[in-house]
Amino acid sequence: MSDEQMKVQIKNLYKIFGSNPKAMVEKVQGGMGKPELLEKHGHVLGLKDINLDIPARKVQVIMGLSGSGKSTLIRHINRLIEPTAGEMIVDGEDVLSMNDNDLREFRRKKASMVFQKFALLPHRTVAENAAYGLTIQNIPTSEAMSRSQKWIDRVGLSGFENHYPAQLSGGMQQRVGLARALATDAEILLMDEAFSALDPLIRTDMQNVMLDLQEELHKTIIFITHDLDEALRIGDNIAILRDGSMVQEGSPQQIVLDPADDYVSDFIKDINRGRVLEVGSVMHAKPPAKGPELEASTVLEEAMQVLVSSKIKEAIVVRDGKKVGGLSMEDCVKAMARTQGRSEGSSAYT
Ligand SMILES: Nc1ncnc2c1ncn2[C@@H]1O[C@H](COP(=O)(O)OP(=O)(O)OP(=O)(O)O)[C@@H](O)[C@H]1O
Ligand SMILES: [Mg+2]
Repeated sequence: MSDEQMKVQIKNLYKIFGSNPKAMVEKVQGGMGKPELLEKHGHVLGLKDINLDIPARKVQVIMGLSGSGKSTLIRHINRLIEPTAGEMIVDGEDVLSMNDNDLREFRRKKASMVFQKFALLPHRTVAENAAYGLTIQNIPTSEAMSRSQKWIDRVGLSGFENHYPAQLSGGMQQRVGLARALATDAEILLMDEAFSALDPLIRTDMQNVMLDLQEELHKTIIFITHDLDEALRIGDNIAILRDGSMVQEGSPQQIVLDPADDYVSDFIKDINRGRVLEVGSVMHAKPPAKGPELEASTVLEEAMQVLVSSKIKEAIVVRDGKKVGGLSMEDCVKAMARTQGRSEGSSAYT
């Protein structure tokens, strides 16, 4: 993909916390890890040599254990944090060279943040909170209110306009947070554990609200989560951080089929592979002459049912109406079997 289609480009990004971070970059480049940097030099390695291209109109998930650098990374995108070294390019523009005015505009109009704790103003109504991103741009209140009303409706809060945050459940509060971010028309949504405080059912509900909206709006969404099910559900791409380094980046299919190391394997060990892996990622090259047809996006659980109940035990895999490969029960079983660490040559990507 060419650079122009990349919404966000993160290049050789380092963040080190401490009294003299710039002096530490070389040590980290020389291979010093997070524990040693802390012990010997009293500095915290936040991020190490992060390179990530985030395509426009997709959902990029960032995962990793607590302290791995997820929030630090997302906060660099709208420069809430200054890097120790490296580049941050958004729409071809260097975020680090923006002046205060550019940056204010950028945060208000280009990249909107949705926080975990909703960050609603307690003494303002739902309508006022949703309009907040517009009123701080000095858009007249009546216009701000009418523009944000559309988003209040879209997130399912019609009728609650005059309620205060404390009168709403957590899920409803987060809907207000989402409406507020959407009302700014920002092309990029930065969501740091936005749904993590919600109960499982409400959380699934919010994921659905977001996926429905995304189908129509095609925002560039950068979404941090601890939860792999959430990541697999909403992510077009997933980046996995460990101790400030990016250990793997790819589609959910790539990550599940070909985990880069034991850390990643550990993340994915409990998922239901049959419901995640798609036929297109595990098929073999040559379609059989005859057999049932399966869409490449069919998940293995369904594909296996088709194979079992068909007389011909090999399926033709179809993508965009074209025959692109074949799928046997053996392919399915191999893909279902759990691998430890990086597998050898078993994936369709190698
Ligand atoms: N202002 C700061 N000063 C010193 N160290 C910091 C600062 N901010 C973050 N860190 C450290 O940087 C590392 C990455 O922190 P970060 O908050 O980005 O992790 P995270 O992946 O978002 O974790 P969590 O899942 O708990 O939110 C941690 O070791 C953290 O202690
Ligand atoms: Mg965090």
